[in-house]
Amino acid sequence: MSKRILLGVTGASGIIYATRLSMHLKNLGHPVDLILTKTAEQVLKHEAQEQLYKYAHAIFPIDDYFKEPASGSSSYSAMVVAPCSMGSLAKISAGIADNLLLRSADVCLKERRPLVLVPREMPYNAIHLQNMQNLEKAGASIISASPSFYRNPKTIEDLVDTVVAKVLSHIHVTHSLAPDWGTHV
Ligand SMILES: Cc1cc2nc3c(=O)[nH]c(=O)nc-3n(C[C@H](O)[C@H](O)[C@H](O)COP(=O)(O)O)c2cc1C
Repeated sequence: MSKRILLGVTGASGIIYATRLSMHLKNLGHPVDLILTKTAEQVLKHEAQEQLYKYAHAIFPIDDYFKEPASGSSSYSAMVVAPCSMGSLAKISAGIADNLLLRSADVCLKERRPLVLVPREMPYNAIHLQNMQNLEKAGASIISASPSFYRNPKTIEDLVDTVVAKVLSHIHVTHSLAPDWGTHV
């Protein structure tokens, strides 16, 4: 069955995580609605990820609280924020909802809907780590942008997909990006 997924994109490096995730969701028949922060739009251009837009079912303006995801009665199966900046992560952790992406994440937490955050920063300071701990306690899943190498990825896309596979599993989307380890060895 098709799931409606909300994808928030912030101005952290690694917009390719959003591109690959939305591409796979679209190919699997799950429509993706996008919300980008203003900085995300700039980083997207800098990282040459314009193809992200073509995988979106809808794109919502960051300052329009009249759009569906701002409401608890919306019907999204899950929200992912990828990549997630430390700034947006801190605001979600503090319950600050002063743009549509932040409000949508806040709605997911209050409605107990799956919320996956893909933070990208290095190194993390104590505030980042504390915010992540708060979010995990509030019900979010923190899936850091830490690709794995044990399947010997050959391309950057393969590497990125090791993170995307984990995100898909956490939002309960069936996929074949990472076969069970038992069938791999
Ligand atoms: C090219 C570029 C790369 C950045 N990478 C990161 C990053 O990896 N992680 C991060 O937390 N912030 C990063 N930043 C800083 C954020 O864009 C900045 O903190 C911004 O306020 C985030 O706002 P947003 O969460 O509303 O998008 C980067 C900025 C630029 C211009």
